[in-house]
Amino acid sequence: MQLVTLKYQARSIEDYFNLSSAEITERIELARLQLGTKLLILGHHYQRDDVIRHADLTGDSFKLSKMASERTAEYIVFCGVHFMAESADILSRTHQKVILPDLAAGCSMADMANIDQVETAWAELEDIGINSIMPITYMNSTAAIKAFCGERQGAVCTSTNARGIFDWAYGQREKVFFFPDQHLGRNTAYSRGIALDEMVVWDPYLELGGNDPEKLRKAKIFLWKGHCSVHGRFHHKQVDAVRLEHPGINVLVHPECNWEVVQKADYSGSTEYIINKIAKSEPGSMWAIATEVNLVNRLKNQYPDRFIRLLAPDLCMCSTMFRIAPENLLWALENLCDDEVVNQITVPEEVAYWAKVALDRMLTIAQ
Ligand code: 13P
Ligand code: SF4
Repeated sequence: MQLVTLKYQARSIEDYFNLSSAEITERIELARLQLGTKLLILGHHYQRDDVIRHADLTGDSFKLSKMASERTAEYIVFCGVHFMAESADILSRTHQKVILPDLAAGCSMADMANIDQVETAWAELEDIGINSIMPITYMNSTAAIKAFCGERQGAVCTSTNARGIFDWAYGQREKVFFFPDQHLGRNTAYSRGIALDEMVVWDPYLELGGNDPEKLRKAKIFLWKGHCSVHGRFHHKQVDAVRLEHPGINVLVHPECNWEVVQKADYSGSTEYIINKIAKSEPGSMWAIATEVNLVNRLKNQYPDRFIRLLAPDLCMCSTMFRIAPENLLWALENLCDDEVVNQITVPEEVAYWAKVALDRMLTIAQ
């Protein structure tokens, strides 16, 4: 099959919707061949099977950010969500271009904190005399919030390295302000010996986050009131139910699940951790997993000699990750073959500078 070369005009995504999946697969492979070493396709573990099969490298958000900082391909096509592509752009070299095949692939958790709200919260704490705070943001946040942390000697973390980053933060300041996932923040702080009554939730829509000043002065951590709607579907009663139904089953969860779920689970960790745990498990072992369904189904297919199921009875799918379809990937690649860069993610220089400081700090601490 030959690629038709269209010069000086980007191909339209509409032209891709009626192609058969066989043709899409064939044309993606052809475009990859044509682009050769100029191209690197990165895929997050929550991507659907028909997309992840085309990725050169796969990983959790920490591994993908490291890969983006180490590779030199001119085009990084990021099959994941917007905050991941932003981080790749910040960490990559100036000649590299990062492409997100569908710009609507966002993250509802990252959308729960914006920079104006974060600046207001910080100023309110300063106004009541609370100063020794380390700002830490989860990777799932905007570049502007990463920059806010970088500028104040803070850092980014992912679910892979959150514990190490918290230890580092408490080694320098009395308190941590953690954006935007209250659950990862609570689970990590608790694992570092901080009691639940030393944690306060900061609601950005209320004055002082909905807390009285005395409570804030006593707190060790301020948890931004954000969460993942996908992991929010897992409930601790499901852990009890699955143990009753399958005695001896292992419960393996992502730390974006709430505290009760994580406390009742046997193991908790990032998507990469979950994959490694299953890979190293015994044939015949039983697993209930609390994370995104595309990953759980892939593990089920890869390890048919283990019993693997989703912890929740209903579908826990990340609809924004799912937006990256093979059609979008092919459209982005064929445009690159025509020297047309579509859907490039570019973080403004002044934001990128401080966001990179926060990301580099994470990469250094987490070595
Ligand atoms: P990981 O870093 O574990 O891949 O998690 C990213 C994410 O968005 C989970 O919802
Ligand atoms: Fe965001 Fe949750 Fe989707 Fe992860 S699974 S990208 S946190 S909405």
